[in-house]
Amino acid sequence: MARHLLALADFSGAELAALVDRALKLKRDSKDGVRNRDLEGRTVALVFEKPSTRTRVSFETAMYGLGGQVIYLSSRDTQLARNEPLKDMARVMSRYVDCLVIRTFGQEIVDELARYSQVPVINALTDLHHPCQILSDLMTVIEHKGALDKLKIAWVGDGNNMANSWIQAAARLGFALTLACPDGYEPDRDILTAARAEAARPINLVRDPVEAVAEADVINTDVWASMGQEDEQLLRLKAFRPYQVNDRLLRGAAPDAVVLHCLPAHRDEEISEAVLEGPRSVVWDQAENKMHIHKAILAEFIG
Ligand code: CP
Ligand code: NVA
Repeated sequence: MARHLLALADFSGAELAALVDRALKLKRDSKDGVRNRDLEGRTVALVFEKPSTRTRVSFETAMYGLGGQVIYLSSRDTQLARNEPLKDMARVMSRYVDCLVIRTFGQEIVDELARYSQVPVINALTDLHHPCQILSDLMTVIEHKGALDKLKIAWVGDGNNMANSWIQAAARLGFALTLACPDGYEPDRDILTAARAEAARPINLVRDPVEAVAEADVINTDVWASMGQEDEQLLRLKAFRPYQVNDRLLRGAAPDAVVLHCLPAHRDEEISEAVLEGPRSVVWDQAENKMHIHKAILAEFIG
């Protein structure tokens, strides 16, 4: 049976750490000009029902870099749009390709695909999780701040797919996490409860962003309206206004704190232009690391 990457909670802390270590090594290798062609002759299909710049291109370059091939399918390109059952798509695609990377809406869609797929299914974002992104974020944090278990990490803004995956990472990897979210925009309650039950360090949910950021080593944010929530944009602008990551908010953070944003960013909404472009921002390393972590994921799950 194939192993899938659907959510971070499906993996032990040691497995998550090993994936990040593998990506760090692949990054060093690529900077040293060492070519790794482990996936020569293998094929991955990217099935994307939402737009993407980084995830799509970094998965593609990762796969080509490892000697493999990629087939990209948007929602216009498959019979899914004409209601072909997922379980049929999963079984057919398993006969053609070595791995399915999917970006879609409901988590139940990737779960169903995985149930019927003979090849690994990788979640490249759903409404509930963004596990591959958090792996590259963790890699970026390790590069800039060292061992995770000593760190205090803050999440400021929407309790969205990114927040849910950060919560699962905190439970498995043992860093302290405080999330500040407005009323009505909290992370998934079941995910939070399950994570807290096993976490070695606190996972706090507060209203006040100043409290979340106090002494934090890493500050994270994301858009206030995720893909699929475009109709709520105006309502959300109002609810989230006090949650902007800006220089004033960062005054309470550790002096050498770094700021993460998975991108795309809405400047002067969830993050000020000055912070995004300023010395604390590590967002370009974070974006680059998606390619290295995707190499590690593809090599691990296909290889
Ligand atoms: N961070 C991220 O997933 O970006 P894309 O939507 O461009 O893939
Ligand atoms: N929370 C955002 C992440 C985009 C990479 C979204 O789902 O749109």
